Amino acid sequence: MTDLLDISYPIIQGGMQWVGRAELASAVSNAGGLGILTALTQPDPDALRAEIARCRAMTDKPFGVNLTILPTTSPPPYKDYLDAALDSGIRVIETAGRSPREFIARIKDAGGVIVHKCTAVRHAVSAERAGVDAISIDGFEAAGHPGEDDIGGLILFAAALMLGAEGINMGTRFCATQEAPIHDNIKQAMVDASERDTNLIFRPFRNTGRVLKNGVSDEVIRIERRPGGAEFEDVRPLVSGARGKAALTSGKIDDGLVWASQVMGLIEDIPSCQELIDRIVRDCRKAIDIGQAAFSG
Ligand SMILES: Cc1cc2nc3c(=O)[nH]c(=O)nc-3n(C[C@H](O)[C@H](O)[C@H](O)COP(=O)(O)O)c2cc1C
Repeated sequence: MTDLLDISYPIIQGGMQWVGRAELASAVSNAGGLGILTALTQPDPDALRAEIARCRAMTDKPFGVNLTILPTTSPPPYKDYLDAALDSGIRVIETAGRSPREFIARIKDAGGVIVHKCTAVRHAVSAERAGVDAISIDGFEAAGHPGEDDIGGLILFAAALMLGAEGINMGTRFCATQEAPIHDNIKQAMVDASERDTNLIFRPFRNTGRVLKNGVSDEVIRIERRPGGAEFEDVRPLVSGARGKAALTSGKIDDGLVWASQVMGLIEDIPSCQELIDRIVRDCRKAIDIGQAAFSG
């Protein structure tokens, strides 16, 4: 990332409407990160040219321009903003909002680098296929537009350690192991499920639960959301512990509640606990090594 963007540290200041102006972008770039001017904060492409010139007077380090492409009935002249940035010698373009596909050739022809910011792995993969150089992903915790999937960005062990935790607590991942005493169908359902396949139930009763999206949890949500609201009594027969336990034992996925988290999106196999723990430790060591290398440059 530091080589690609020609910066000292892999820290990007994302585009921010009304905030991403020369004062901030130059300060971030001067501090070793990548500052970014937000194109649409400027009233027109000429004003963006002037803002780029102002920023350049405040830093001799590289900075980028954010192009936020939002669904709107009267779209701003994105192409003209982009031309203003590229003609002014800006190399890094942060795109966001929707697929940057139609702008990629123009940016590449100008020798530019595209960092596309999105909110879902599937969007990241299609942007990569379309030819962007880097992806940044905003999780559900991010400001701005966090997408429609409500997926948190932090489910990685090394990340937890780097943030100062001394260990991790895992549940769902251990369900999908050889030794977990539940039916193979349930384990396989966790392998097949993506991070979008959970439901939050019991919210109206202030006792929110995250469970696998299945016939029962969909039905609970339908009842909870019906006009006039619902009482716990209305869903009690669906959500009994006995039904959930029976589903885990019989492997009939839709027979009861199966508690499971968004980490299912990262579960792709059913290893033994030994294999799993060895792998987590190995992946964690590797991630920390890579992280340290990135910051020691
Ligand atoms: C005040 C503000 C305005 C923002 N405006 C935009 C924007 O216009 N375009 C964009 O792509 N992202 C926008 N964002 C999102 C940020 O670039 C960044 O992706 C996000 O804030 C990262 O998550 P964080 O807030 O947890 O750091 C905005 C964020 C903030 C705080």
